[in-house]
Amino acid sequence: MEEQDNNRKFLSGQGLSQELVGALITSALEARKMAYVPYSHYTVGAAVLTEEGKIYQGGNIENASYGATNCAERTAIFKAVSEGCRRFFAIAIAGGMEGTEPVEYAYPCGICRQVMQEFAERDFIIIVAKNMADFLMYHLEDLLPHGFGGESIK
Ligand code: THU
Repeated sequence: MEEQDNNRKFLSGQGLSQELVGALITSALEARKMAYVPYSHYTVGAAVLTEEGKIYQGGNIENASYGATNCAERTAIFKAVSEGCRRFFAIAIAGGMEGTEPVEYAYPCGICRQVMQEFAERDFIIIVAKNMADFLMYHLEDLLPHGFGGESIK
């Protein structure tokens, strides 16, 4: 199957072991439980792998003023950045209606892709997962081609 072949390409060539992929997906699924979603009831969990080999988790945090909502991916990344991490290798994301298993892949929004770009190389890996057995892997440059980065303003 084409999707499986694509995942195999990442697992063999990128130095991201099957164990780490599993750990990231487990952590993202677990992080959904910590989401604060009184408005959408859509829980997203993210788990980001740092250069140091640590995994930080995050859930989406909503707000009555909807625009103040923080996505799960940014929660995880900002937690890590605020602890001193500056470079990330991969992120796993899982989302679905509260209390249910994900039925679709939860792709990162545009703002989160831009935040990933700030702290990642072009080969940063994004894993969108429904469960441990059903996931897809991408590079950031696949999901954010021609992204704007800090090197342009130095
Ligand atoms: N959400 C995320 O957490 N990550 C994304 O990349 C897209 C959207 C959240 C924000 C909001 O709490 C809910 O999903 C519905 O938009």
